[in-house]
Amino acid sequence: MRKVLIIGIGAGNPDYITVQAINALNEVDVFFVIDKGREREELLRLRKQICERYVKDKSFRTIEVPDPPRDRSPASYQTAVVSWHEERADLFERMIGEELREDECGAFLVWGDPSLYDSTLRIIERIIARGIVTFEYDVIPGISSIQALAARHRIILNRIGKSIHITTGREIAEGLPNNVDDVIVMLDADCAFRNINEAAVDIYWGAYLGTEDEILVSGNLRQLTEDIERMRAEAKERKGWIMDTYLLRRTDG
Ligand SMILES: C[S@@+](CC[C@H](N)C(=O)[O-])C[C@H]1O[C@@H](n2cnc3c(N)ncnc32)[C@H](O)[C@@H]1O
Repeated sequence: MRKVLIIGIGAGNPDYITVQAINALNEVDVFFVIDKGREREELLRLRKQICERYVKDKSFRTIEVPDPPRDRSPASYQTAVVSWHEERADLFERMIGEELREDECGAFLVWGDPSLYDSTLRIIERIIARGIVTFEYDVIPGISSIQALAARHRIILNRIGKSIHITTGREIAEGLPNNVDDVIVMLDADCAFRNINEAAVDIYWGAYLGTEDEILVSGNLRQLTEDIERMRAEAKERKGWIMDTYLLRRTDG
């Protein structure tokens, strides 16, 4: 039976790859690569670097496919995401069916860890449910940007016996949740931290974590808000894209 591996490759540094991921990479006959356009060229290059560096037998094939366009300002965010997943499922299903022979192993290389804000597994489950193209699949974990953030700031994410909350910029647009004092924010294109109207909050911010462009800033949010906004805008202007993650921590909690 065909096999598909969803391999977490870590969130930026080629050294973040695990031994399990290296072993998995060496089983692969076909790498499926979704080309997400110009701003992701650098990320695509890192994926290629990883294959060149860790795969011993270079006889694998690479299939590059353009990502279906996505409506960035839809009337309903949820509906737009679901229909985009459906289009991606059509695409993945076709690629697996046409490019992978019955005895072969294919792989999707997922940035960071596949369990965090990544749709690959959701799409694979959708294809399996359709039952048109059949295959078995496995997931190999990777170092996520959250782990990279914590390690680079040398912090523990939770306080003793307390919860942490992982969310998106969109979800903190109205402020921090009341029931938790440590909030990790990803996918924030809009500096949502500037909406936090509390004085006793620290931020641990990291951009391009694990790469040579990495930027780390930490301290009181109110004092740093403008600096981070400026640094973020400058970095984005310079490189053409940015990836940042941060922890917001109530300090009087
Ligand atoms: C689509 S999600 C993918 C998350 C990924 N699966 C992970 O485990 O980190 C993309 C978001 O992850 C965060 N991210 C990923 N890589 C990053 C990096 N190297 N530095 C900072 N943030 C990163 C950013 O918040 C970005 O908006």
